Amino acid sequence: MRRSILIDCDPGLDDAAAILTALGAADRLSLGAVTTVAGNVDLDAVTRNAAGLLALAGRTDVPLHAGCPRALFGAGERAGHVHGADGIGGVALSPGPAPSPEHAVQAIRRLARGGGVTIVAIGPLTNLALALVEEPAIATEIERLVIMGGVADGPGNVTDWAEFNFACDPEAARIVLESGLPTALFGLDVTRQAHVTPQRIAAFDALGTPAGKALARMLRAYQGERPRPVLHDPCTIAWLLQPDLFAGRRVRASVETANPAQRGRLMTTDDPQGPIELMTALDADGFFALLTQCVGGLRG
Ligand code: RIB
Ligand code: CA
Repeated sequence: MRRSILIDCDPGLDDAAAILTALGAADRLSLGAVTTVAGNVDLDAVTRNAAGLLALAGRTDVPLHAGCPRALFGAGERAGHVHGADGIGGVALSPGPAPSPEHAVQAIRRLARGGGVTIVAIGPLTNLALALVEEPAIATEIERLVIMGGVADGPGNVTDWAEFNFACDPEAARIVLESGLPTALFGLDVTRQAHVTPQRIAAFDALGTPAGKALARMLRAYQGERPRPVLHDPCTIAWLLQPDLFAGRRVRASVETANPAQRGRLMTTDDPQGPIELMTALDADGFFALLTQCVGGLRG
């Protein structure tokens, strides 16, 4: 049975890989909507990029909703040095569909209310946090959260403590992680194992399809986690498709919001009854084989 998902994102080159992988697995994942949030680059740019990715995949039927242009508090972060000023590595994409007039937060609330939706959140968690605050009842309707963010055991990629998505909007991340919703959490602990090597990029190129060649161009432009780029966001989609590629442990979690030096820090406590599975291990070869197979299924 196909799993209903919504992707909340800030494309972003690794977001692009996640979106294309999900669309290439349309036999297993039904993408009900893409919602965007300011993060890697500004809201207009991430929304334009999301639309271009839908067009690249031949899926302009997927509803697109723009969301929050800023974090709940503070100035947030941007990552043009990682994803390019345009957020997509300068890779030309045909213009995609205009976003719906419905705000992303309202779209998340509406789709969650219908029950059975898995929310994949791969940018700052501002939209999702506001949806949970505006309509707490959706917490009982959402099937599961699958989140890229944080780091439990190791340095952050924005500060010594904080990973980008959680550093962008610590209050939003805290609201979401304290919601008690069943969550699969992909922090830098596991995503840093997904090394983008020239051989793995060449496999996308070798697909010979518009999507495969475009993604290879994007990954060659990607500057994530120097000196060796890693693919963070697609870990979420890969887990939905092939969970045995990963291993983790159950925790309870929150996010530092008060201590200025540690804002955005993920704090975990091991708990076999905890609502969050913190992922810690990845079969990287199997991961990239899955991504290549899914992207190869796109004929857009
Ligand atoms: O820290 C990595 C995360 O921040 C990824 O989601 C990347 O796209 C950026 O948003
Ligand atoms: Ca992202």
